[in-house]
Amino acid sequence: MPQLAYVNGRILPLADASLHIEDRGTQFGDAVYEVCAVMNGHILDWQPHLVRLRRNLAELGIVLDIADGPLTLQARRLIAANGHAECIIYMQVSRGTAKRDHAFPGAAPANLVMTVRRFDFAQRLRQLETGIAIITQPDNRWGRVDIKTTGLLPNVLAKQAAKQAGAFEAWLVSGDTVREGSSTSAWIVKDGRIITHPTGTAILPGIARDSLIRLAREAQLVVEQRPFTLAEAMAADEAFLTSTTAPILPVVRIDGQAVGNSTTGGKTGPIVRRLAELTWNEVARQTGWRA
Ligand SMILES: Cc1ncc(COP(=O)(O)O)c(C=O)c1O
Repeated sequence: MPQLAYVNGRILPLADASLHIEDRGTQFGDAVYEVCAVMNGHILDWQPHLVRLRRNLAELGIVLDIADGPLTLQARRLIAANGHAECIIYMQVSRGTAKRDHAFPGAAPANLVMTVRRFDFAQRLRQLETGIAIITQPDNRWGRVDIKTTGLLPNVLAKQAAKQAGAFEAWLVSGDTVREGSSTSAWIVKDGRIITHPTGTAILPGIARDSLIRLAREAQLVVEQRPFTLAEAMAADEAFLTSTTAPILPVVRIDGQAVGNSTTGGKTGPIVRRLAELTWNEVARQTGWRA
């Protein structure tokens, strides 16, 4: 069965799906997007993703002329048409197609596209055992990275640097503060306290981040939302990352150095294990999915 995509109300083969070359997403990165996990055919955390999408559209003044109900139906239709029980759905809304001009076009309707890709979530449970390595890169993004725009060039370059270094992710560091990963939220654990950068304009408010804060607090664990330095990360007991496509992964090496003390260093730690249990139980609660 060919892969199917959604373009402005139509579902069609991915190979035939396209936008005009003067789509403002292409020319200006004038577009926002969401990526959602689908497990067992159910979209995880759909409501928070919708809320974030609406907030981002409002921040940029992009008018998307489809209400939440029909949008949800279209997303579900595309998922069902592709027939993958485990996949990710990508949704992108640009300000529309118009003659190239920086200022907003008058009457161009927004362009909404969606694609679905099969995704192996079970690999994340295997990686929970091994942990992953990250490198650090300077955070040279613009001042509103809380808006999830398709203008991702600094993130792309940072991720490529990580790949070339044989690492899973790059943590973006501003001054001496760790902000977040190129496509993931960044966390450390010190003396039983779970620490992650506060929301605001300097990080993307991750849906997985938000969900984990809630789950951790419900389990009586201490979460601090405060900036932390690279030195703190290097001296942390444990470190990890979260995202839609990597719900929780232990970070066991930072710039080649093992995380944690000399006996437990470089291995998955107890708090990350506990948080992973909470995370995957929540996935099972919402979607029924178990590896
Ligand atoms: C820069 C950045 N930070 C964090 C995240 C994690 O966000 P979420 O948990 O919503 O996937 C992403 C996801 O793409 C991201 O691009």
